[in-house]
Amino acid sequence: MTQLANEQEPILKVRNLKQYFNEGSKGEVRAIDDISFDIFKGETFGLVGESGSGKTTTGRAVMRLYQPTSGEIIFEEKDIASLKNRRDMLDFRKDIQMIFQDPYASLNPRMKVEDIIAEGLEIHGLVKTKTERKAKVADLLEQVGLNPQHATRYPHEFSGGQRQRIGIARALAVAPKMIVADEPISALDVSIQAQVVNLLEELQKDFGLTFLFIAHDLSMVKYISDRIAVMYMGKIVE
Ligand SMILES: Nc1ncnc2c1ncn2[C@@H]1O[C@H](COP(=O)(O)OP(=O)(O)O)[C@@H](O)[C@H]1O
Ligand SMILES: [Mg+2]
Repeated sequence: MTQLANEQEPILKVRNLKQYFNEGSKGEVRAIDDISFDIFKGETFGLVGESGSGKTTTGRAVMRLYQPTSGEIIFEEKDIASLKNRRDMLDFRKDIQMIFQDPYASLNPRMKVEDIIAEGLEIHGLVKTKTERKAKVADLLEQVGLNPQHATRYPHEFSGGQRQRIGIARALAVAPKMIVADEPISALDVSIQAQVVNLLEELQKDFGLTFLFIAHDLSMVKYISDRIAVMYMGKIVE
């Protein structure tokens, strides 16, 4: 297969996905109301829309953090929406990882950076010894532009941009195929934003990652995305 043909293959297909909260009650929220889209291998798919339009819910639904109300989520030909078995779920969770909006809230303040990054490695049995764990964490810190000697520090000892790099290292640790980045730079100083975007682009090149990149502001998404979908009140409008 040629490189081009390979890149045209969807890694993720979402079909008629609905995600309702408090279904049937007075407080029913149709956070996602029948959306369909494809994401191709190796691309950055931008998802933009105003606050409350359903972007985060879409990212979380794709990671199968909810039981979908209806519809299909096909990841590499497998229907994720109907995954029930723990083992299958664990395999899937390794393939798709998330980077969060708030690098302050998303890192456990009581855990050392090395333990935050190694958590996934351990859950998925990717390191066998302490030495191996240490070396892998050091590699990851270096890959995201942090000093490996800072592995024993706590999150509060880092700046916002550095914390987001720790979040990125944690996501990368299990060698995922796809990353859902939910407004990964909107909480950062403008001067830091470009650095984090450049890092994500470099990592994408190095590891052939596919990104679902969520943002409320079109300008940044335009710059990094191959294709863009716009959400409005739970629907994709363009
Ligand atoms: N767990 C939940 N329970 C009830 N309503 C929710 C839940 N999560 C999100 N919502 C609602 O779904 C809608 C979409 O939210 P969200 O996906 O976070 O939007 P966005 O990320 O675009 O700002 C909002 O009205 C929000 O209040
Ligand atoms: Mg959101």
